[in-house]
Amino acid sequence: MINSNLPIGVFDSGLGGLTAVKELKKVLPNESIVYFGDTGRVPYGTRSKSTIIRYASQDANFLLEKGVKAIVAACGTVSSSAKEELKKLPVPYIDVITATALAAVNATQNKKIGVIGTGATVKSGSFSKAINAIDSEIEVTATACPLFVSLVENGFIEEDNEVTLLVAKKYLKDIIEADVDTLILGCTHFPIIAPVIRKVMGEKVKLIDSGKETARYVKEILSAEALLNNSESTAIYNYFVSDDTENFKNIAEIFLQGDIDGEVERIDIGKYKRNIGDEN
Ligand code: DGL
Repeated sequence: MINSNLPIGVFDSGLGGLTAVKELKKVLPNESIVYFGDTGRVPYGTRSKSTIIRYASQDANFLLEKGVKAIVAACGTVSSSAKEELKKLPVPYIDVITATALAAVNATQNKKIGVIGTGATVKSGSFSKAINAIDSEIEVTATACPLFVSLVENGFIEEDNEVTLLVAKKYLKDIIEADVDTLILGCTHFPIIAPVIRKVMGEKVKLIDSGKETARYVKEILSAEALLNNSESTAIYNYFVSDDTENFKNIAEIFLQGDIDGEVERIDIGKYKRNIGDEN
């Protein structure tokens, strides 16, 4: 039996997963979190499926070693590409596709949904499949926006950042032409630049934040599995990265609008197992 007082493990290729952490803290203030951002190997979204599976397995194995009660892939790319492997985890596994697709289906009125994500996410068709499994009449327009990831990781995140605005205008052209009334931010890095995306898309289009939707879903799953932390203990947050800690802290603090509320430690992710439940 899994101990419900253990922390929740959350991982991403870098900073993006913090959009889920931010929301998790709101909906589950009692839960401790161990976060891993693979800042030394970001981006994942331009890599092959087999590499993404290997990286994701190492990330999850690191979190398992930290003793977590559930693992959240706060990454659209991992959720889209490594589903089968991560389903083998010995603790509940939560991706960012399921809850996000449902929220978008509930939000659209004209049955036209846009999806932006990394190349790997768009290529996998994961969001389109999940949306059309709920409602086959919905028209989905998906566009890969890989440069957004680098812009976020490098701190080009202000609302009036000219470079990010220019890139957003180019990337979002087809989505605007498709007349969508709902847009899925299908990469967890993207909510960090939501104000820029909002500027380009206009006020009327509903933006669906995969981090936010997933945080709510995590609560549902933990509750269903009787894994909510019911003790009186205060939540503790620990952050791990695979590259420089200072860079991570600086951008995380701009994004979280405050000091990072826990230790940040650098680890060697390369030494963790490359498969789930395997000895190599
Ligand atoms: N934040 C990630 C996602 O949701 C990954 C971005 C990347 O590493 O390319 O897709």
